[in-house]
Amino acid sequence: METKDPTTLAAWKDLTTMAAGFHLDLRKAFAADPARAENLSFAAADLHVDLSKNLITGAVFEKLLELSAQAGVRDLSEAMFNGEHINNTENRAVLHTALRAPAGTQLMVDGKDVIAEVHEVLRRIYDFADSVRDGSWVGVSSKRIQTVVNIGIGGSDLGPYMAYEALRPFVKPGLECRFVSNIDPTDISEKTRDLDPETTLFIIASKTFTTLETITNAKAARAWLLRGLQERGVIDETDAAAKDAISKHFVAVSTALEKVAAFGIDPRNAFGFWNWVGGRYSVDSAVGTSLAVAIGREGFEEFLAGFRAIDEHFRNTPPASNVPLLMGLLNVWYSNFLHAQTHAVLPYSQYLHRFPAYLQQLTMESNGKRVRRDGTLVSYDTGEVFWGEPGTNGQHAFYQLIHQGTRLIPVDFIAFARPTWDLTDSETGKRQHELFLGNFFAQSAALAFGKTPDEVRAEGTPEELVAHRTFPGDRPSTSIMAPALTPKVLGELIALYEMITLVQGAVWGIDSFDQWGVELGKAMAINLGPAISGDAEALAQADASTRELLEYYFAHK
Ligand code: F6P
Repeated sequence: METKDPTTLAAWKDLTTMAAGFHLDLRKAFAADPARAENLSFAAADLHVDLSKNLITGAVFEKLLELSAQAGVRDLSEAMFNGEHINNTENRAVLHTALRAPAGTQLMVDGKDVIAEVHEVLRRIYDFADSVRDGSWVGVSSKRIQTVVNIGIGGSDLGPYMAYEALRPFVKPGLECRFVSNIDPTDISEKTRDLDPETTLFIIASKTFTTLETITNAKAARAWLLRGLQERGVIDETDAAAKDAISKHFVAVSTALEKVAAFGIDPRNAFGFWNWVGGRYSVDSAVGTSLAVAIGREGFEEFLAGFRAIDEHFRNTPPASNVPLLMGLLNVWYSNFLHAQTHAVLPYSQYLHRFPAYLQQLTMESNGKRVRRDGTLVSYDTGEVFWGEPGTNGQHAFYQLIHQGTRLIPVDFIAFARPTWDLTDSETGKRQHELFLGNFFAQSAALAFGKTPDEVRAEGTPEELVAHRTFPGDRPSTSIMAPALTPKVLGELIALYEMITLVQGAVWGIDSFDQWGVELGKAMAINLGPAISGDAEALAQADASTRELLEYYFAHK
């Protein structure tokens, strides 16, 4: 795949010229064009996306579409959908879209029909989920499973954890999932200390099955299980008893099935996926097994249908109304031409409290790159810092800086028309959801339209406070709404951001599907093992700062 330096493209140069001294007065823009909100609002599956409060003019909009065409965004996305090896540094296809392709379609990659394989694994996951949910899967003492503990990290944790939290209303009553990720022993200890080993099932999720955190926690879980069962007199201390217990309380999710077997997990209890699924793109693969158990076969099928709806929208909708394309291009506009450094995602849904963390891995591990596909250094910013918290909590914490600080921070607001819990205030009779949504509607309007000094004065504000109480406005945001937070809508939201990430990476000419930047720290942590254990020779080889920190550790441990 050809690598282009986007700064050499005519549209990039034009956008640079257009951005010089660029200022858009959003009040005037809306006044001048009464159809602005309508013309810049788009539908993508169940999502209603209002781009009108972004800092764009018709000319910028057109130029961004030209940039997309010149950078070959569509060529890259088609190559992805067709299974070409667009992850060039690992020489792999990038086919998370095949995970949600309908049964009966066919996609041959490296000589295999990957969609048939996907549906075979899905069938096994659904059978497993059914058996846990209906109680036919029982633990070693014949008790039904009440708690599923997913052990994984990064993509093998953030996706299922975020989705489980988001879809709590759809979780089968009486069944709980917990998520252990950190190698900090606190995590596994806190998540298991009140559990009954007889009714607990572990899912060890690791694409590579070599990740230190996951394997360490899996071993801790195995020891906890066997100790607990032995203490209760459920099993004796023989290897055969341990093997039997593990086969009833451990399943695995991985691309490395031989390593799963070596760990002692019965290969019949392992759900595979493929090296063409990146960790951060894997929640809709077997990595979502805990979620499938929680929300059931139908819920998971709906979840996949949501992804599929956005894939189809992205693939088939013309550029000028293609939502992921437009949102990705807007991010490029803000990052590279208006020099925003960060991007906030503010869901007005407590259920989406892990969504910003999920997006951090998706976007920052994908697009935090400093060289293009061909290894040449970029001369422009790539992946922005994604961050956020649910509204309205964030309003009482960091929104101050977004409203009145000095930085440009594009914001994505997300909200749902229908509440899961429809409470009414007993004194005022007002629906709590409407008080909540009032904040969602108000925040994007306040950011866009602000409050002028004259408006502040007209409220009788003393002159010395006018500057403090003025809101400059013209702060950009996108508002995403959907009827309700369902499995399908969650799938749509995730796929939306997957495609936005692809668009940005395509414009920047980088490989959005490798993650070499995580390797150095991992290797160094392992190499420091002997020094931490007190090996004097290893300690002497550490750098001066690390030695100093280790001395503090030795003095205080
Ligand atoms: O360290 C980064 C990473 O490789 C992520 O890309 C991945 O999601 C995570 O670690 C976990 O990897 P695995 O699923 O192989 O345990």
